[in-house]
Amino acid sequence: MNTTVSDVEIKGATKQFGSNIVLDAIDLEVKQGELLTLLGPSGCGKSTTLNLIAGFLEADQGDVYIKGKKVTKVPPYKRDLGMVFQTYSLFPHMTVYENLNFGLKLRKISKAEQKEKIDRVLALVKMSGLEHRYPRELSGGQRQRVAIARALVVEPELLLLDEPLSNLDAKLRHELRLEIKRLQKEIGVTTIFVTHDQEEALSLSDRVVVMNAGKIEQISTPTSIYKHPKTEFVFQFIGKSNSFEGAVVAIDSQKISVKAGEEIVVVDYDNIIGEDRDISSGDEVKLYIRPENIHIASTRETSAPLELHPATITQMNYLGTSWEIDVSLIGKSLQVLTNDYDSSWREGREVFVGWNPSDLKLIKKE
Ligand SMILES: Nc1ncnc2c1ncn2[C@@H]1O[C@H](COP(=O)(O)OP(=O)(O)OP(=O)(O)O)[C@@H](O)[C@H]1O
Ligand SMILES: [Mg+2]
Repeated sequence: MNTTVSDVEIKGATKQFGSNIVLDAIDLEVKQGELLTLLGPSGCGKSTTLNLIAGFLEADQGDVYIKGKKVTKVPPYKRDLGMVFQTYSLFPHMTVYENLNFGLKLRKISKAEQKEKIDRVLALVKMSGLEHRYPRELSGGQRQRVAIARALVVEPELLLLDEPLSNLDAKLRHELRLEIKRLQKEIGVTTIFVTHDQEEALSLSDRVVVMNAGKIEQISTPTSIYKHPKTEFVFQFIGKSNSFEGAVVAIDSQKISVKAGEEIVVVDYDNIIGEDRDISSGDEVKLYIRPENIHIASTRETSAPLELHPATITQMNYLGTSWEIDVSLIGKSLQVLTNDYDSSWREGREVFVGWNPSDLKLIKKE
Protein backbone atom coordinates (compact mmCIF):
# COMPACT_ATOMS: atom_id res chain seq x y z
CA MET A 1 0.00 0.00 0.00
CA ASN A 2 1.39 3.35 -1.02
CA THR A 3 0.11 5.94 1.43
CA THR A 4 1.76 8.93 -0.20
CA VAL A 5 -0.53 9.10 -3.24
CA SER A 6 -3.74 10.96 -2.66
CA ASP A 7 -6.81 9.24 -4.06
CA VAL A 8 -9.23 12.07 -3.53
CA GLU A 9 -8.58 15.74 -3.31
CA ILE A 10 -10.97 18.62 -2.71
CA LYS A 11 -9.57 22.06 -3.40
CA GLY A 12 -11.30 25.17 -2.13
CA ALA A 13 -14.82 23.75 -2.37
CA THR A 14 -17.65 26.09 -1.48
CA LYS A 15 -21.30 25.09 -1.58
CA GLN A 16 -24.24 27.30 -0.89
CA PHE A 17 -27.96 26.45 -0.71
CA GLY A 18 -29.81 29.73 -1.06
CA SER A 19 -28.12 32.08 1.37
CA ASN A 20 -26.86 29.21 3.51
CA ILE A 21 -23.12 28.58 3.08
CA VAL A 22 -22.94 24.87 3.74
CA LEU A 23 -19.29 24.34 2.79
CA ASP A 24 -16.89 27.21 3.14
CA ALA A 25 -13.74 26.79 1.01
CA ILE A 26 -12.76 23.36 2.28
CA ASP A 27 -9.55 21.55 1.32
CA LEU A 28 -9.22 17.83 1.86
CA GLU A 29 -6.86 15.08 0.77
CA VAL A 30 -7.57 11.38 1.15
CA LYS A 31 -4.61 9.05 0.85
CA GLN A 32 -4.62 5.80 -1.03
CA GLY A 33 -5.92 2.90 1.05
CA GLU A 34 -6.81 4.94 4.08
CA LEU A 35 -10.04 5.03 6.06
CA LEU A 36 -10.90 8.63 6.66
CA THR A 37 -13.95 9.73 8.64
CA LEU A 38 -15.84 12.98 8.40
CA LEU A 39 -17.03 13.73 11.92
CA GLY A 40 -19.18 16.60 13.11
CA PRO A 41 -22.59 17.62 14.41
CA SER A 42 -25.78 17.34 12.38
CA GLY A 43 -25.91 19.87 9.57
CA CYS A 44 -22.16 20.65 9.51
CA GLY A 45 -21.80 19.55 5.86
CA LYS A 46 -20.62 15.93 6.02
CA SER A 47 -23.12 14.47 3.54
CA THR A 48 -22.65 17.49 1.27
CA THR A 49 -18.90 16.83 1.20
CA LEU A 50 -19.49 13.17 0.40
CA ASN A 51 -21.96 14.09 -2.34
CA LEU A 52 -19.37 16.39 -3.94
CA ILE A 53 -16.92 13.51 -4.04
CA ALA A 54 -19.59 11.14 -5.39
CA GLY A 55 -20.71 13.66 -7.98
CA PHE A 56 -24.34 13.99 -6.83
CA LEU A 57 -23.64 17.66 -6.13
CA GLU A 58 -21.41 20.18 -7.82
CA ALA A 59 -19.47 22.78 -5.84
CA ASP A 60 -20.17 26.47 -6.55
CA GLN A 61 -16.44 27.05 -6.39
CA GLY A 62 -13.49 24.70 -6.16
CA ASP A 63 -12.75 21.30 -7.64
CA VAL A 64 -12.71 17.62 -6.85
CA TYR A 65 -9.92 15.30 -8.03
CA ILE A 66 -9.95 11.51 -7.99
CA LYS A 67 -6.56 9.88 -8.55
CA GLY A 68 -5.19 13.21 -9.72
CA LYS A 69 -7.86 13.71 -12.38
CA LYS A 70 -10.29 16.58 -12.15
CA VAL A 71 -13.78 15.04 -11.92
CA THR A 72 -15.80 18.17 -11.15
CA LYS A 73 -17.92 17.64 -14.28
CA VAL A 74 -17.82 13.82 -14.35
CA PRO A 75 -21.17 12.14 -13.47
CA PRO A 76 -21.33 9.76 -10.47
CA TYR A 77 -21.59 6.54 -12.47
CA LYS A 78 -18.28 7.29 -14.18
CA ARG A 79 -16.38 7.91 -10.93
CA ASP A 80 -15.78 4.23 -10.05
CA LEU A 81 -17.14 4.34 -6.55
CA GLY A 82 -19.29 2.32 -4.22
CA MET A 83 -21.64 4.20 -1.93
CA VAL A 84 -23.80 3.35 1.07
CA PHE A 85 -26.34 6.03 1.91
CA GLN A 86 -27.56 7.40 5.20
CA THR A 87 -30.92 5.62 4.85
CA TYR A 88 -31.47 2.07 3.62
CA SER A 89 -30.88 2.02 -0.07
CA LEU A 90 -31.60 -1.52 -1.26
CA PHE A 91 -34.09 -2.10 -4.06
CA PRO A 92 -37.09 -3.54 -2.16
CA HIS A 93 -38.47 -5.56 -5.08
CA MET A 94 -35.17 -7.37 -5.70
CA THR A 95 -33.63 -10.24 -3.77
CA VAL A 96 -30.23 -9.88 -2.14
CA TYR A 97 -28.68 -11.59 -5.15
CA GLU A 98 -30.44 -9.29 -7.62
CA ASN A 99 -29.48 -6.23 -5.58
CA LEU A 100 -25.85 -7.27 -5.73
CA ASN A 101 -26.02 -8.18 -9.40
CA PHE A 102 -27.50 -4.79 -10.36
CA GLY A 103 -24.13 -3.08 -10.77
CA LEU A 104 -22.44 -6.17 -12.18
CA LYS A 105 -24.92 -6.68 -15.02
CA LEU A 106 -23.69 -3.50 -16.65
CA ARG A 107 -20.25 -5.04 -16.98
CA LYS A 108 -19.34 -7.46 -19.69
CA ILE A 109 -18.69 -10.50 -17.53
CA SER A 110 -20.17 -13.99 -17.65
CA LYS A 111 -22.98 -15.22 -15.34
CA ALA A 112 -20.48 -17.55 -13.67
CA GLU A 113 -18.17 -14.64 -12.94
CA GLN A 114 -21.07 -12.58 -11.56
CA LYS A 115 -21.97 -15.41 -9.20
CA GLU A 116 -18.39 -15.85 -8.11
CA LYS A 117 -18.05 -12.16 -7.24
CA ILE A 118 -21.38 -12.10 -5.40
CA ASP A 119 -20.51 -15.23 -3.41
CA ARG A 120 -17.22 -13.67 -2.44
CA VAL A 121 -18.66 -10.39 -1.08
CA LEU A 122 -21.52 -12.19 0.66
CA ALA A 123 -18.94 -14.29 2.49
CA LEU A 124 -17.00 -11.12 3.36
CA VAL A 125 -20.04 -9.54 5.02
CA LYS A 126 -21.11 -12.90 6.52
CA MET A 127 -24.37 -13.15 4.58
CA SER A 128 -23.78 -16.35 2.59
CA GLY A 129 -26.95 -18.39 2.15
CA LEU A 130 -29.33 -15.43 2.28
CA GLU A 131 -29.11 -14.45 -1.40
CA HIS A 132 -32.73 -15.34 -2.16
CA ARG A 133 -34.27 -13.21 0.59
CA TYR A 134 -35.93 -9.86 -0.09
CA PRO A 135 -34.81 -6.79 1.93
CA ARG A 136 -38.05 -6.92 3.98
CA GLU A 137 -37.09 -10.43 5.11
CA LEU A 138 -33.82 -9.17 6.62
CA SER A 139 -32.99 -7.43 9.91
CA GLY A 140 -31.68 -3.85 9.86
CA GLY A 141 -28.11 -5.01 10.39
CA GLN A 142 -28.37 -7.62 7.64
CA ARG A 143 -29.74 -4.99 5.24
CA GLN A 144 -26.83 -2.71 5.98
CA ARG A 145 -24.45 -5.61 5.37
CA VAL A 146 -26.06 -6.17 1.98
CA ALA A 147 -25.82 -2.44 1.21
CA ILE A 148 -22.10 -2.59 2.01
CA ALA A 149 -21.72 -5.76 -0.09
CA ARG A 150 -23.49 -4.08 -2.99
CA ALA A 151 -21.08 -1.16 -2.80
CA LEU A 152 -18.11 -3.53 -2.71
CA VAL A 153 -19.13 -6.07 -5.36
CA VAL A 154 -18.21 -3.76 -8.23
CA GLU A 155 -14.70 -3.50 -6.75
CA PRO A 156 -14.72 0.29 -6.61
CA GLU A 157 -11.64 2.49 -6.36
CA LEU A 158 -13.37 4.42 -3.64
CA LEU A 159 -15.91 3.47 -0.97
CA LEU A 160 -18.18 6.18 0.42
CA LEU A 161 -20.22 5.37 3.52
CA ASP A 162 -22.70 7.91 4.85
CA GLU A 163 -23.65 6.99 8.44
CA PRO A 164 -24.17 3.34 7.44
CA LEU A 165 -24.71 2.29 11.06
CA SER A 166 -26.96 5.05 12.35
CA ASN A 167 -30.20 3.06 12.26
CA LEU A 168 -28.87 0.13 14.24
CA ASP A 169 -28.86 -0.69 17.95
CA ALA A 170 -25.68 -0.18 19.99
CA LYS A 171 -24.51 -3.81 19.95
CA LEU A 172 -25.00 -4.27 16.22
CA ARG A 173 -23.39 -0.90 15.50
CA HIS A 174 -20.33 -2.04 17.39
CA GLU A 175 -20.18 -5.41 15.62
CA LEU A 176 -20.60 -3.93 12.16
CA ARG A 177 -18.11 -1.19 12.92
CA LEU A 178 -15.45 -3.82 13.62
CA GLU A 179 -16.46 -5.66 10.48
CA ILE A 180 -16.15 -2.57 8.29
CA LYS A 181 -12.70 -1.92 9.72
CA ARG A 182 -11.62 -5.51 9.05
CA LEU A 183 -13.09 -5.51 5.54
CA GLN A 184 -11.51 -2.20 4.65
CA LYS A 185 -8.05 -3.35 5.72
CA GLU A 186 -8.52 -6.69 3.96
CA ILE A 187 -9.51 -5.14 0.65
CA GLY A 188 -7.45 -1.98 1.04
CA VAL A 189 -10.09 0.18 -0.65
CA THR A 190 -9.80 3.91 0.04
CA THR A 191 -12.80 4.70 2.23
CA ILE A 192 -14.54 7.83 3.41
CA PHE A 193 -16.89 7.21 6.33
CA VAL A 194 -19.32 9.82 7.60
CA THR A 195 -20.50 9.80 11.21
CA HIS A 196 -21.57 12.14 13.98
CA ASP A 197 -20.52 9.59 16.60
CA GLN A 198 -17.10 10.44 17.99
CA GLU A 199 -16.44 6.98 19.40
CA GLU A 200 -17.16 5.44 16.01
CA ALA A 201 -14.80 7.88 14.31
CA LEU A 202 -11.98 7.37 16.79
CA SER A 203 -12.18 3.59 16.73
CA LEU A 204 -12.44 3.16 12.95
CA SER A 205 -10.24 5.71 11.32
CA ASP A 206 -6.73 6.13 10.11
CA ARG A 207 -7.47 9.87 10.18
CA VAL A 208 -10.43 11.91 11.37
CA VAL A 209 -11.68 15.15 9.82
CA VAL A 210 -13.59 17.20 12.38
CA MET A 211 -16.08 19.52 10.71
CA ASN A 212 -18.10 22.37 12.16
CA ALA A 213 -20.52 24.67 10.34
CA GLY A 214 -19.11 24.06 6.86
CA LYS A 215 -15.46 24.30 7.85
CA ILE A 216 -12.76 21.79 8.69
CA GLU A 217 -11.52 22.31 12.24
CA GLN A 218 -8.81 19.64 12.30
CA ILE A 219 -7.52 16.64 10.35
CA SER A 220 -5.41 14.23 12.39
CA THR A 221 -5.05 10.68 13.64
CA PRO A 222 -7.60 9.62 16.28
CA THR A 223 -5.08 9.85 19.12
CA SER A 224 -3.90 13.25 18.06
CA ILE A 225 -7.47 14.55 17.73
CA TYR A 226 -8.18 13.34 21.25
CA LYS A 227 -4.94 14.38 22.90
CA HIS A 228 -4.00 17.46 20.91
CA PRO A 229 -7.17 19.21 19.83
CA LYS A 230 -6.38 22.31 17.83
CA THR A 231 -9.56 24.19 18.62
CA GLU A 232 -11.99 24.54 21.49
CA PHE A 233 -14.70 23.03 19.29
CA VAL A 234 -12.67 19.86 18.68
CA PHE A 235 -11.88 19.50 22.37
CA GLN A 236 -15.51 19.83 23.36
CA PHE A 237 -16.89 17.69 20.55
CA ILE A 238 -14.51 14.78 21.18
CA GLY A 239 -15.16 13.31 24.58
CA LYS A 240 -16.43 14.86 27.76
CA SER A 241 -14.77 17.69 29.58
CA ASN A 242 -15.03 19.75 32.73
CA SER A 243 -14.45 23.45 32.39
CA PHE A 244 -13.79 26.25 34.82
CA GLU A 245 -12.79 29.84 34.49
CA GLY A 246 -9.96 31.82 35.97
CA ALA A 247 -7.40 34.55 35.50
CA VAL A 248 -3.69 34.24 34.77
CA VAL A 249 -1.57 35.28 37.76
CA ALA A 250 1.94 34.27 36.68
CA ILE A 251 3.79 32.93 33.64
CA ASP A 252 7.22 31.47 33.10
CA SER A 253 8.68 29.79 30.03
CA GLN A 254 6.87 26.48 30.59
CA LYS A 255 4.00 27.05 32.99
CA ILE A 256 1.03 29.30 33.38
CA SER A 257 -0.46 29.79 36.85
CA VAL A 258 -4.17 30.48 36.93
CA LYS A 259 -6.29 31.55 39.87
CA ALA A 260 -9.60 29.70 39.60
CA GLY A 261 -11.88 30.42 42.55
CA GLU A 262 -9.65 30.15 45.60
CA GLU A 263 -7.25 27.67 43.99
CA ILE A 264 -4.10 28.28 41.99
CA VAL A 265 -3.76 25.73 39.19
CA VAL A 266 -0.75 25.30 36.93
CA VAL A 267 -0.98 24.55 33.21
CA ASP A 268 1.76 23.52 30.80
CA TYR A 269 2.43 26.15 28.18
CA ASP A 270 2.15 23.43 25.51
CA ASN A 271 -1.46 22.85 26.49
CA ILE A 272 -2.89 26.05 25.13
CA ILE A 273 -5.68 25.27 22.68
CA GLY A 274 -6.31 27.52 19.71
CA GLU A 275 -4.40 30.00 17.63
CA ASP A 276 -4.02 32.69 20.26
CA ARG A 277 -1.03 31.62 22.35
CA ASP A 278 -0.13 35.09 23.46
CA ILE A 279 -1.05 34.86 27.14
CA SER A 280 -0.20 37.49 29.72
CA SER A 281 -0.87 38.11 33.39
CA GLY A 282 -4.44 39.18 34.09
CA ASP A 283 -5.88 37.41 31.01
CA GLU A 284 -9.20 35.67 31.56
CA VAL A 285 -8.97 32.03 30.56
CA LYS A 286 -10.99 28.83 30.50
CA LEU A 287 -9.49 25.62 31.79
CA TYR A 288 -10.56 22.19 30.67
CA ILE A 289 -9.95 18.74 32.03
CA ARG A 290 -11.34 15.40 30.91
CA PRO A 291 -13.21 13.30 33.52
CA GLU A 292 -10.80 10.36 33.12
CA ASN A 293 -7.82 12.61 33.85
CA ILE A 294 -9.00 13.56 37.31
CA HIS A 295 -7.57 11.34 40.03
CA ILE A 296 -9.75 10.69 43.01
CA ALA A 297 -8.62 9.29 46.34
CA SER A 298 -9.91 8.79 49.90
CA THR A 299 -6.90 10.39 51.51
CA ARG A 300 -4.26 12.91 50.60
CA GLU A 301 -1.44 10.33 50.63
CA THR A 302 -2.72 8.02 47.86
CA SER A 303 -1.47 9.90 44.81
CA ALA A 304 1.50 11.66 46.34
CA PRO A 305 3.03 13.28 43.23
CA LEU A 306 -0.18 15.18 42.48
CA GLU A 307 -1.40 18.19 44.30
CA LEU A 308 -4.73 17.13 45.79
CA HIS A 309 -7.69 19.33 46.60
CA PRO A 310 -10.47 18.40 49.04
CA ALA A 311 -13.85 17.84 47.39
CA THR A 312 -17.24 16.35 48.24
CA ILE A 313 -19.01 13.56 46.34
CA THR A 314 -22.39 14.77 45.09
CA GLN A 315 -23.43 11.84 42.88
CA MET A 316 -22.22 8.39 41.86
CA ASN A 317 -23.24 6.61 38.66
CA TYR A 318 -22.20 3.05 37.90
CA LEU A 319 -21.41 2.56 34.18
CA GLY A 320 -20.56 -1.14 34.18
CA THR A 321 -16.81 -0.95 33.66
CA SER A 322 -16.25 2.34 35.46
CA TRP A 323 -17.79 4.88 37.81
CA GLU A 324 -18.85 8.38 36.96
CA ILE A 325 -18.51 10.41 40.13
CA ASP A 326 -19.62 14.02 40.47
CA VAL A 327 -17.73 15.99 43.06
CA SER A 328 -18.02 19.51 44.31
CA LEU A 329 -14.74 21.41 44.55
CA ILE A 330 -15.23 24.77 46.27
CA GLY A 331 -18.77 25.06 44.97
CA LYS A 332 -17.80 23.96 41.45
CA SER A 333 -19.11 20.67 40.08
CA LEU A 334 -16.59 18.33 38.40
CA GLN A 335 -17.17 14.96 36.80
CA VAL A 336 -14.65 12.21 37.43
CA LEU A 337 -14.44 8.91 35.55
CA THR A 338 -12.59 6.13 37.33
CA ASN A 339 -12.14 2.36 37.60
CA ASP A 340 -10.31 2.72 40.85
CA TYR A 341 -13.11 3.15 43.32
CA ASP A 342 -13.42 2.80 47.06
CA SER A 343 -16.55 0.88 48.12
CA SER A 344 -16.99 3.17 51.14
CA TRP A 345 -17.66 6.19 48.91
CA ARG A 346 -21.10 7.70 49.21
CA GLU A 347 -22.77 10.96 48.37
CA GLY A 348 -21.64 13.61 50.85
CA ARG A 349 -18.31 11.90 51.56
CA GLU A 350 -15.15 14.03 51.47
CA VAL A 351 -12.49 12.87 49.00
CA PHE A 352 -9.41 14.34 47.34
CA VAL A 353 -9.07 15.11 43.66
CA GLY A 354 -6.06 16.12 41.61
CA TRP A 355 -4.58 16.06 38.13
CA ASN A 356 -1.36 16.29 36.21
CA PRO A 357 -0.74 19.79 34.88
CA SER A 358 -0.11 18.12 31.52
CA ASP A 359 -3.76 17.02 31.37
CA LEU A 360 -5.15 20.50 31.90
CA LYS A 361 -5.95 22.49 28.74
CA LEU A 362 -6.19 26.23 28.60
CA ILE A 363 -7.93 28.58 26.19
CA LYS A 364 -7.89 32.35 26.25
CA LYS A 365 -11.31 33.96 26.57
CA GLU A 366 -12.22 36.41 23.82
N1 LIG B 1 -30.53 20.08 -1.12
C1 LIG B 1 -30.46 20.96 -0.14
N2 LIG B 1 -31.10 22.13 -0.20
C2 LIG B 1 -31.01 23.05 0.80
N3 LIG B 1 -30.27 22.87 1.91
C3 LIG B 1 -29.60 21.72 2.03
C4 LIG B 1 -29.66 20.70 1.02
N4 LIG B 1 -28.88 19.66 1.42
C5 LIG B 1 -28.38 20.01 2.61
N5 LIG B 1 -28.80 21.24 2.99
C6 LIG B 1 -28.40 21.96 4.21
O1 LIG B 1 -27.01 21.99 4.25
C7 LIG B 1 -26.51 21.81 5.57
C8 LIG B 1 -25.55 20.65 5.59
O2 LIG B 1 -26.24 19.46 5.28
P1 LIG B 1 -25.55 18.03 5.29
O3 LIG B 1 -26.57 17.07 4.84
O4 LIG B 1 -24.28 18.08 4.54
O5 LIG B 1 -25.25 17.86 6.84
P2 LIG B 1 -24.66 16.60 7.63
O6 LIG B 1 -23.39 17.05 8.27
O7 LIG B 1 -24.59 15.43 6.73
O8 LIG B 1 -25.75 16.38 8.78
P3 LIG B 1 -26.40 15.01 9.38
O9 LIG B 1 -25.44 14.52 10.44
O10 LIG B 1 -27.68 15.50 10.00
O11 LIG B 1 -26.63 14.05 8.27
C9 LIG B 1 -27.74 21.66 6.45
O12 LIG B 1 -28.00 22.90 7.02
C10 LIG B 1 -28.82 21.25 5.49
O13 LIG B 1 -30.08 21.70 5.92
MG1 LIG C 1 -25.66 13.64 6.62
